Amino acid sequence: MDLEGKEIDESKQGEATMVASNTEGSKKLYLESYGCQMNFSDSEVVASILSKNGYSTTKDVDEADVILMNTCSIREKAEDRVRNKLAQHNKRKKQNPELVIGILGCMAERLKKDLLEQEKLVDLVAGPDAYRDLPNLISEVGSGQKAVNVLLSREETYADIAPVRLDKGGVTGFISIMRGCDNMCSFCVVPFTRGRERSRDPESIVREAQDMLDKGYKEVTLLGQNVDSYKWNITKKGEIIDPEKEVVTFAQLMEKVALVSPQLRVRFSTSHPKDMTDDVLEVMAKYKNICKYIHLPVQSGNSDVLKRMNRGYSREWYLNRIDAIKRIVPDAFISTDIITGFCGETEEEHQDTLSLMKEVGYEFSYMFFYSERPKTLAERKFEDDIPLEVKKRRLTEVQSMQAVLAETANEKTVGNTYEVLIEGISKRSDEHVYGRNSQNLTVIFPREDFKAGDYVNVKIESYTSATVKGVAVK
Ligand code: SAH
Ligand code: SF4
Ligand code: F3S
Repeated sequence: MDLEGKEIDESKQGEATMVASNTEGSKKLYLESYGCQMNFSDSEVVASILSKNGYSTTKDVDEADVILMNTCSIREKAEDRVRNKLAQHNKRKKQNPELVIGILGCMAERLKKDLLEQEKLVDLVAGPDAYRDLPNLISEVGSGQKAVNVLLSREETYADIAPVRLDKGGVTGFISIMRGCDNMCSFCVVPFTRGRERSRDPESIVREAQDMLDKGYKEVTLLGQNVDSYKWNITKKGEIIDPEKEVVTFAQLMEKVALVSPQLRVRFSTSHPKDMTDDVLEVMAKYKNICKYIHLPVQSGNSDVLKRMNRGYSREWYLNRIDAIKRIVPDAFISTDIITGFCGETEEEHQDTLSLMKEVGYEFSYMFFYSERPKTLAERKFEDDIPLEVKKRRLTEVQSMQAVLAETANEKTVGNTYEVLIEGISKRSDEHVYGRNSQNLTVIFPREDFKAGDYVNVKIESYTSATVKGVAVK
């Protein structure tokens, strides 16, 4: 079980990295991924495309013929890390002028040829919809040309490409069900870097889930920036495209994947509060193997801030969705994303975020301070007027609140027994294994003869704000 790969599953947004490794093929590709789960999923598509052109991935950067960095633009810090890394890779190029350095993903799309022409940090730039062109782009570099393809597509979903699973012997994996985003949250760079929303053929999704099960996977996570707006064979306006064919919504897609096997758990990310409907929750409640966990990013607990963020819902609407979850899937755990110090955020508005967190009782949150991104609505319309120290102080307050909420939630699990899917050996002690329960809570317990991929019933005995510990029960 590749623990290095595992780490990224837990921390999904912006700050995680992974180096990929599979061993067939003669030319060596060092593929480094940053950002969200979708980037990691895309890297498996990239590895697949390049493996057909004789490349195998390596974990040793010094043996690489090609270095590709799949990058994230979500916050300034995410881009800074990539620049530092690019500078290091460029030192290698001085010793090995044949080395090709390329940038993929959201930073490639955002900066286009600047990194190549002005900053001279890379040889190749490929945006998220241009990965089929990579073999071609690499050979263009070889013949001394500038290799750039940042065209965004309205159709590309890579549905026909079987991803090379980079997490060998993996238990959990991702399936991208859609690409792009049609929302225009005012703080967010994603619509500019990923283009228009498009959904992938449901048959190819079910096939991929079946294939993962056949390869020994026990859990799949369906990925999209807004999974609730997944739709197949129907337009946004509700017009059926081909009357001969079936219409598939997200709730129906989830059901299809759940039916692949009761042994295959299904998760999904990310739900959008404005689009999350009760039928999705009803399907969740109906199938035991659909995990009882919803990540429902709120961003702020104040309706005026939400309006400035252009999120499309109010505090009341959001709380109504939380009520629906608690009514239809009462045992679900709920997590969220929060931004502190967005443009014009007053102290009272910040307090509304804290009070909403308490009201919902999130088991987990990803928390960030606002980072202004070029070209976004917020950058054009509002002043980034909250001083950095205030943004950070508010972030600390939100984090402290979350620590209390998580501890309260974890405390409640003591004495309960949960089915846990083992993902690997605990990093702190090789006498212990770790895994997650349906609610996405990480559980640690004595290893005994268990191995990754086993489902084990575990009774919880103790807790902290980060994890819970237990023992296997027969
Ligand atoms: N599609 C998902 C979010 C993708 S980005 C959704 O709509 O919920 C992941 C998270 O990064 C966001 O939920 C937000 O909390 C954070 N984020 C996005 N842009 C940001 C910015 N400019 N500054 C700080 N955090 C940001
Ligand atoms: Fe960004 Fe909003 Fe789309 Fe999420 S829904 S990716 S926050 S624009
Ligand atoms: Fe980052 Fe792009 Fe994902 S900006 S969060 S890698 S969609």
